[in-house]
Amino acid sequence: MPPNLQAAIDRLRAGGVVAFPTETVYGLGADAFNESAVRRVFELKGRPANNPLIVHVADAAMARQVVAAWPREAEALAAAFWPGPLSLVLPRSPRVPDMVTAGSPNVAVRCPDHPLALELLRAFGPLVGPSANPSGQLSPTTADHVRAVFDKEDVPVLDGGPCRAGIESTVVSVIGTPRILRPGVIGAGDIERVINQHVETASYSEKGAHLDSPGRLASHYSPRAPAVLYSTEDELRELLDSTRGIVVIVTDSPTRLPPPPDRLIQMPRHAEAYAARLYAALHEADTAEPDLIAIHSPEPTGDAHEQGVWRAILDRLTRATTPPE
Ligand code: TXA
Ligand code: MG
Repeated sequence: MPPNLQAAIDRLRAGGVVAFPTETVYGLGADAFNESAVRRVFELKGRPANNPLIVHVADAAMARQVVAAWPREAEALAAAFWPGPLSLVLPRSPRVPDMVTAGSPNVAVRCPDHPLALELLRAFGPLVGPSANPSGQLSPTTADHVRAVFDKEDVPVLDGGPCRAGIESTVVSVIGTPRILRPGVIGAGDIERVINQHVETASYSEKGAHLDSPGRLASHYSPRAPAVLYSTEDELRELLDSTRGIVVIVTDSPTRLPPPPDRLIQMPRHAEAYAARLYAALHEADTAEPDLIAIHSPEPTGDAHEQGVWRAILDRLTRATTPPE
């Protein structure tokens, strides 16, 4: 076992917090069964106590330690997508502290697809794992993103390289009619094909949405600089004309308005590549301390699966550009 992995396990056993890599974003890990360790995670993130945490597990057998029911749909989805970027919301086991689920009778569980995370989970057991960023800010997709916001004494980082998928897992409730609570790279169509049932997608702006998944608050995943979405070259021109100071442009399409090269972040046109690059691009845009980040609203293209990925990307972009209430 690598020495830093052993050190991480020792720290977790002592009720401490460790950041760990997953295929989506880095997580802030703590013992899911230790209430004071979980409290520390909320404190470090400045996370409201009403926003529940996802429990990470090494496999379906470990998932069954944290849930009170394991319906056919859960079995089928875990078999199809785990390890992978899908969190299943199920009735929770009494072993899971109230604080993890924010008092909800349900818990979200997922098995991440990253060798280091899986080794950690196999050796330690279930870990809570919110994204390793202060609440409301951009999710980290590299170890350096985590190191930039947390002191290394508070949060040592297990470095597993850049995250492959780049946006957070799809959260799907499999209690009653299956419902997507947070879109991700696994879309409604992908899930429907496995369980042969219609899957609804809850809108984050829906009234009361915060009650069943507070992470769906409209403003979230935000860069520090103000950010806006634009569609046309004319809209971009207007933004450039009306903004005093620095504008960073993040775009997947060629632009005829060339800014200085350090103020243009070129995004890939392929949905999965775009998702993988999204947060790193917004972190990069922020480092220029611009007055505005202008993001071209990407045009969804491709097959049904790709359209689902674009939907998740647009969800994150919309929230990144929605000012806090
Ligand atoms: O990809 C991911 O899911 C990453 C990596 C680290 O695994 N984690 C992550 O966690 O994004 P976090 O805490 O940043 O987002 C968790 C989301 C929130 O939208 C939260 O409201 C929702 O999952 N959630 C967690 N538990 C829930 C529950 N019991 N019922 C409904 N929604 C839940
Ligand atoms: Mg988060």
